[in-house]
Amino acid sequence: MEPIVKYEDVHKSFGDLEVLKGIDLNIAPAEKVALIGPSGSGKTTIIRLLMTLEKPTSGYIEVDGDPLWHKEVNGKLVPADEKHLREVRGKIGMVFQHFNLFPHMTILKNCTVAPINVLGMDKEEAEQRAVEMLEKVGLADKLEAYPSQLSGGQKQRVAMARALVMRPKVMLFDEVTSALDPELVGEVLEVIREIAEEGEMAMILVTHEMDFARDVADRVVFLDNGVIAEQGKPKDILENPQSERLQSFLERFRTSSSS
Ligand SMILES: Nc1ncnc2c1ncn2[C@@H]1O[C@H](COP(=O)(O)OP(=O)(O)OP(=O)(O)O)[C@@H](O)[C@H]1O
Ligand SMILES: [Mg+2]
Repeated sequence: MEPIVKYEDVHKSFGDLEVLKGIDLNIAPAEKVALIGPSGSGKTTIIRLLMTLEKPTSGYIEVDGDPLWHKEVNGKLVPADEKHLREVRGKIGMVFQHFNLFPHMTILKNCTVAPINVLGMDKEEAEQRAVEMLEKVGLADKLEAYPSQLSGGQKQRVAMARALVMRPKVMLFDEVTSALDPELVGEVLEVIREIAEEGEMAMILVTHEMDFARDVADRVVFLDNGVIAEQGKPKDILENPQSERLQSFLERFRTSSSS
């Protein structure tokens, strides 16, 4: 099966700092990949490239058979224009650590503004779909509320519904529970788990929740210092790490999470 996402020898530098040093990664349609690794290893950067929030310094990225940062013209790859980027990015949804909801819009409006303005969905269809997704994340009773009236966990569930309304083929989650009070983490992970179980979307989950990664992911990818240092089935990676780097990462993680 053709991958839904392909990274080929992707490099990214910020000034003199090379943050990604040649990433090769294929993700199958409907595959759930957990991305783990130390702070600063490049996890966020990898997914921001896919969301077109950062541009690779070199290398090639493909989404659903289309080059992301390039466009094919007369059989040659040339840099993509804004229109092409928008089209391909339309297949990707992202949930951020800090929700990024519009504070002056109701929950319903937060979920319909992009489908209406970006996808050109008509208002009724967008609202119907938004209500459906807000029901899915357990917030059907909050349509007319404003973000400031919600808990962090509820805000994060709105952010998920908002991404789902766009019918992405790939969903990106960047440490979506790390800004939450501990008692709110569970409800958000539960919703992600349910979405994952429906199965059809590929997911890349940057997470420090190792138990969650083990449950939900088909594959765990360990990023260290801008390279994929180890990857494999969750059980193998988390219980039987081969490299010293991964062993010490998991050890450090265990120590910090139990404190
Ligand atoms: N816009 C930027 N300008 C300069 N440096 C950046 C920028 N974005 C990220 N970096 C640097 O790139 C490196 C990788 O950052 P990234 O956010 O991808 O790491 P991460 O693995 O997500 O870390 P964390 O677990 O702390 O979120 C870091 O050293 C960071 O300081
Ligand atoms: Mg990060």
